[in-house]
Amino acid sequence: MNIFRIKKPFTLTIFGASGDLAKLKLFPALYRLAEQKRLPADFSIVGFARTEKTQKQFQQEFETSIKAAVKKDLDPTLLKNLTQHVHYFTGQYNSLESFYEYKKFLKKLNNGKKQPHLAYFSVPPQAFKPIIQNLGESKSSKNEDIRLIIEKPFGEDTKSATELYHFISRYFDEKQAYLLDHFLGKSGVQSILNLRQTNRILNILLRGAEISNIQINAIESIGIKERAGYFDQVGIMKDWIQSHLLQILALTTMNVPISGSAESLHREKNSILSAIKLPRGNNIIIGQYDGYTKEKGIPKGSKTETFAAVRLLIDQGEWFKVPIYIRTGKKLNKKLTTVVVEFKKLAFQKDTEEPNLLVIEIGPEERVSIKLLNKYQTGDSPYESITTSKSIACSGDYCLPPHGLLLLDVIRENKSSFLSFPEIIASWQVTEAILERIKRKKIRVEKYKQGSEGPKSQHKLTRQDGFIWHDDP
Ligand code: BG6
Repeated sequence: MNIFRIKKPFTLTIFGASGDLAKLKLFPALYRLAEQKRLPADFSIVGFARTEKTQKQFQQEFETSIKAAVKKDLDPTLLKNLTQHVHYFTGQYNSLESFYEYKKFLKKLNNGKKQPHLAYFSVPPQAFKPIIQNLGESKSSKNEDIRLIIEKPFGEDTKSATELYHFISRYFDEKQAYLLDHFLGKSGVQSILNLRQTNRILNILLRGAEISNIQINAIESIGIKERAGYFDQVGIMKDWIQSHLLQILALTTMNVPISGSAESLHREKNSILSAIKLPRGNNIIIGQYDGYTKEKGIPKGSKTETFAAVRLLIDQGEWFKVPIYIRTGKKLNKKLTTVVVEFKKLAFQKDTEEPNLLVIEIGPEERVSIKLLNKYQTGDSPYESITTSKSIACSGDYCLPPHGLLLLDVIRENKSSFLSFPEIIASWQVTEAILERIKRKKIRVEKYKQGSEGPKSQHKLTRQDGFIWHDDP
């Protein structure tokens, strides 16, 4: 099988190596890359953080996180070998001195050889700028091969995202910045594009003229876990809708790019994202689960939303008449991320007949289903839905978790599964329009019970157009 393996040496610096992102996602992803023999003989992984720590201690943390994530099929020898590539450097993000020291450290580690340097920002957003500046100012030459990997949320609104982008451009070229949304590395999400690129039949159907509404759901049973500080600042709108869900919407409704290049994909997604409108009327429901303000680290009177349902339109040709419902929330009754496309009925069909659906499940299962209605001549109930489903999960020995896949893409300089700056800005504009409307109309945060479906009024959104949420499609 022809799979991509990294041939040349590289250095991966993880800024904020003691954080959750590194422990839960990056370290296990690195193990999977090692397991699939995709790493070269010569590479270094360096944890760069403020806490004083020995290399041994960091290596132990690295191993512990991998053991916790990989559990059963862990190969102890493989892990030992991987850990030998792991190093630690204690440094201050805002000290240029530290970065010069770090340069020397890397030079020694890599025997002075030049190799791509991947800088992973696993730090809170406040630390981005000092790291970018010091990495930039300590560069040994203008063309030094440094690749910045920055996870969403990129900025906290249009203004700060633009500032951050300009700030990066002072020190680095645009092509050196990899703006990451891990959803773009999930097989379920990648399948939206793959299915559309390989099946004309789908693209004939995925047009505004054929569709009555689209529903994008991201329902979670978990709460905010240990991320109170972060979550209370952003709320579900910025945490989920701004990137993950608007990206899914763009992939589902965009024109299929003619060429396979990252630029053409970014252009098509951006064309949809820039055309999203928040219509007049009641199009936003927000909620907060009972007990949220009692969670550790959450201020008593916090009004941060942990649930949101919004109704949007796409101001582009035939799409304009198709309501798009996006719904997401924490501490709900299940874990499910889906895209449900509901098709129009034939002119003579009754309203009571079930619609045809195309359902793309992104998590926890990765599956595509088509629901068709069949009509019999006899019987009490003359209709029956036929649902046909197929897994779209990656299968076989070479599947990778999103962070593993995206790291490989950074090495091979493929930006298709990363965000482009215009898309980020267009998504912030949509998010800001929603947040401004909440403020202006003083939309109330409704309480909902943990483990429930969320605020009852979510049904008003779909009902106003004569539709219902498809909860178990
Ligand atoms: C993150 C959000 O980006 O994605 C979290 O910040 C959310 O709030 C998570 O829980 C969901 O991702 P996954 O891969 O666990 O489904």
